[in-house]
Amino acid sequence: MQQGQRLVVVSNRVPPASAVTPQDGNGSAPVGGLVSAIKPTMEKYGGLWLGWSGRSTQRRGGYEPTVSDLGPVQLATLDFAEEEASMYYIGYSNRTLWPLLHSFPGRVVIRHDTYRFYRRINRRFAEALFSVLKPGDQVWVHDFHLFHLGFELRQLGWTGSIGFFLHVPFPAADIFSILPWSKDTLEALLHYDLVGVHTDRYLRNLHDALDSELGGSVDSSGVYSYGALSSKLGVYSIGIDPSVFQEKTMLGSRSLTEELSLNLNPSHRLIIGVDRLDYTKGIPHRLRAFERMLEQHSNLRGKVIYVQISSPSRTRVPEYIQEKEQVERLVGQINGRFSEANWVPIRYLYRSYPQNVLARFYHDADVAMVTPLRDGMNLVAKEFVAAQGEENPGVLVLSQFSGAATSLVDAVIVNPYDVDGMAEATYRALRMPLAERLARSKSLMKDVFTDTAASWSESFLDDLKLNSRRAPVN
Ligand code: UDP
Ligand code: G6P
Repeated sequence: MQQGQRLVVVSNRVPPASAVTPQDGNGSAPVGGLVSAIKPTMEKYGGLWLGWSGRSTQRRGGYEPTVSDLGPVQLATLDFAEEEASMYYIGYSNRTLWPLLHSFPGRVVIRHDTYRFYRRINRRFAEALFSVLKPGDQVWVHDFHLFHLGFELRQLGWTGSIGFFLHVPFPAADIFSILPWSKDTLEALLHYDLVGVHTDRYLRNLHDALDSELGGSVDSSGVYSYGALSSKLGVYSIGIDPSVFQEKTMLGSRSLTEELSLNLNPSHRLIIGVDRLDYTKGIPHRLRAFERMLEQHSNLRGKVIYVQISSPSRTRVPEYIQEKEQVERLVGQINGRFSEANWVPIRYLYRSYPQNVLARFYHDADVAMVTPLRDGMNLVAKEFVAAQGEENPGVLVLSQFSGAATSLVDAVIVNPYDVDGMAEATYRALRMPLAERLARSKSLMKDVFTDTAASWSESFLDDLKLNSRRAPVN
């Protein structure tokens, strides 16, 4: 960022005003990797952050955002009418784009009316943004809710720089082509000066989709051109602020055993899972793997407890309601099958915790199971690594289908669809000798302390500055 330049971030989700300033607790922020990563960026650079208030009102909302001044950060929010929220957020964002981008084609719902609302809301975001932009602002748009915002902003006459980062995977080109509006969406992306994704694979997939749908060309510096449009496409691996999860920040936090009122002896082992309750996170597969492990290793019965924290997410989306029911049924079945008078194998918590409390829970666990069926990055994996002590670190069991697996290669990598394999890998993780745990943890820590939220935003914003004003001026 250049001195004097203002950063303007736009994302559908923003934290509540009370959670934006650094001195204010971070517990009340809505849970999700996007807010977790942008919050430290805003704290570092200051600037304006525009998003949805999360409220839906009876009447159509105005175009004027409500702005709260929070010192270095201004938080600007828009309200949507009930129908707008339902069509744009629940419908197109969460029932069409989310399953498509996570490669769940069977779950993709195609409806022309929700797409029309999505386009309308992207236009509204652009109008609201345009009304507050000043010359020289650096605009950074986040995630799949806002694919068309850059295009709309150009239509309104904005010629300044605009970057876009996709927090979720970009799928294989043949999956992306299921979307009837795939071509429009790719063209819309090319109105951004810079488009960032988490991994090389997502970038390859994006190139493939562009090649097959538009047929433009890419130059040696990664700039993709199609007619008068051009955009630099690059990989920017998101990370965390590790200091939030280190031992010193958890001093005074309740331990996991205190929180759960567990009376453990040294032979007991704790496994932890922390996810939004989302079908991409593979919670049922993980529960089945835990069950398989108890079946096959009866020595673990009475000795191991799996704590699953499932934070409520998208609770009005039908697929999420079904997922919740399935997870609760499975937890009930497994506990019903194995529990004894003094031992319940799964402790299931349908709630969220502030990150300083999570840090202590990560620290106390012997094993974390981070086993999504598909995940853009997965910050929980990195947070678990950062929270481990130097003397007795826990073991990370990590899905090969998470973006995090591309860098956290010293985790125990598993295929989350292979329940037997996951059960065996978790058993190995629980019994891993100290020397191996120390070696793995050291290497994982190095990665988590190198690729941080700060280095991610810095490299993206530096590249945005270098690649500004590629899109045609209207
Ligand atoms: N999180 C939280 N409280 C909870 C559960 C999760 O603050 O009870 C945070 C967690 O610390 C992480 C984020 O939510 O920063 C989840 O990000 P991740 O990338 O793992 O997954 P996403 O939710 O973005 O799919
Ligand atoms: C993922 C998405 C984010 C989203 C978050 C929480 O991390 O990439 O864009 O904010 O999930 O989901 P929600 O629908 O509550 O914003």
